Amino acid sequence: MNKPKILVARAIFAEITARLEQYFEVESNPLDEIWTKAQLIEKLQGKRGVFTTGGERIDADVLAACPQLEICANMAVGYNNFDVQAMTFRGVQATNAPDVLTETTADFGFALLMATARRVTESEHFLRAGRWTKWSYDMFAGSDIHGSTLGILGMGRIGQGIAKRGAHGFGMTVIYHNRSRLSTELEAQCKASYVSKEKLLKTADHVMLVVPYSAESHHTIGAAELALMKPTATLVNIARGGIVDDLALAVALKEKRIAAAGLDVFEGEPRVHPDLLTVPNVVLTPHIASATLPTRMAMANLAADNLIAVLTGKAPLTPLNTVSKRAVAQ
Ligand code: GLV
Repeated sequence: MNKPKILVARAIFAEITARLEQYFEVESNPLDEIWTKAQLIEKLQGKRGVFTTGGERIDADVLAACPQLEICANMAVGYNNFDVQAMTFRGVQATNAPDVLTETTADFGFALLMATARRVTESEHFLRAGRWTKWSYDMFAGSDIHGSTLGILGMGRIGQGIAKRGAHGFGMTVIYHNRSRLSTELEAQCKASYVSKEKLLKTADHVMLVVPYSAESHHTIGAAELALMKPTATLVNIARGGIVDDLALAVALKEKRIAAAGLDVFEGEPRVHPDLLTVPNVVLTPHIASATLPTRMAMANLAADNLIAVLTGKAPLTPLNTVSKRAVAQ
């Protein structure tokens, strides 16, 4: 029997391609080209599954042009590259890669917070530029993490991991805001108190963004929200580009209306707003919060597991939608 055809839209681990090849006829992208929508549609012809890595947009047009598609498996927990509603409408299974990256991403949230509050990259640039000629009492004085107030916007699994690190590891007072309040038991585990978004922004010494991106969360932090924050506060975004209005943030950083920011994600990435590149009080990293080899391998394996399950007639491991059978005739 012919193996089902699938497309792996970006370069991935050779081990994962080899695993997929046991089940499927795989077209892959070893040169890691970024395909246009038209190219993606062309490559998807005749494919029953696609392995995406978070950046490839699968929307209603793509689905309409690729009626044989049965599953879109994202190697990312975020899935704002998928139009899940359109997938459900067409009977296409959508899956993401949650859980396996939670602790690694929470670790990175802390790495970025510490680097930002303690001015790690700014001081390293100073040193590398040969400008360190003497010690001085206030050189790169930053703000403390221990004993400070951490405000987490978005209290899903990653937010909770960050809360635990802050509360239990660094003795921080943790406050959070989320669409829905956590159970009393989870709040106790995270040692976190629920507050309004406004109170969080006004009170926190460090604000950490971990909300998923959607039309509703677009520019969750803009000029008005930045104006509520303390002038000594730091802002860290490990969620998605577009959650923060990057231009408004660059202005606030330049005018020292907040002390510093740490950003792993950007509006329109991999482009970075040029104004963010010129302000010193921001730490910039290229969307690497989940980037350890074991975690990336686990994410890739989970996406592969989802493809294998669905295309061999089993239930997906981490579904984003419920599809009965193919709702739309091919
Ligand atoms: C990374 O940003 C992810 O959503 O997994």
